[in-house]
Amino acid sequence: TVERTLSIIKPDAVAKNVIGQIVARFEGAGLKVAAAKLVQLSRAEAEQFYAVHAARPFFKDLVDFMVSGPVFIQVLEGEGAIAKNRDLMGATDPKKAAAGTIRADFAESIDANAVHGSDAPETAAVEIAFFFPGLNVYSR
Ligand code: CMP
Repeated sequence: TVERTLSIIKPDAVAKNVIGQIVARFEGAGLKVAAAKLVQLSRAEAEQFYAVHAARPFFKDLVDFMVSGPVFIQVLEGEGAIAKNRDLMGATDPKKAAAGTIRADFAESIDANAVHGSDAPETAAVEIAFFFPGLNVYSR
């Protein structure tokens, strides 16, 4: 099934100047960029986006980190895009991420872990609508 998923290249990876290297991995795996923007999230946006984690002990650090610099947000489209993106990213904790994954290669810590990706079709739909409401998503 052709799916869409939301990808965020986080402030650590943007600061490292590896947006292109990460996008190349997505494209190399057959995912297409259906929408993209570089933005500085407000605290309110970061808190709303990660609302599901609001009660977790790491929530404040997560929000602090996500507003620490610009992020590159994309909609990726392709066959099995959600699982494919998660495979490319590797485990949330870069210390546990398989060799050759984005987090193994570019991330430093569980907070500064280079990328976010939607974890299921339902969350992908919510996350895409949050950052790309309306018509600026291009199926191709
Ligand atoms: P992400 O996929 O963006 O979703 C929530 C983020 O919280 C996660 O990646 C991590 O960067 C961060 N985080 C920090 N500590 C934890 C933790 N113990 N478990 C899960 N996520 C964590």
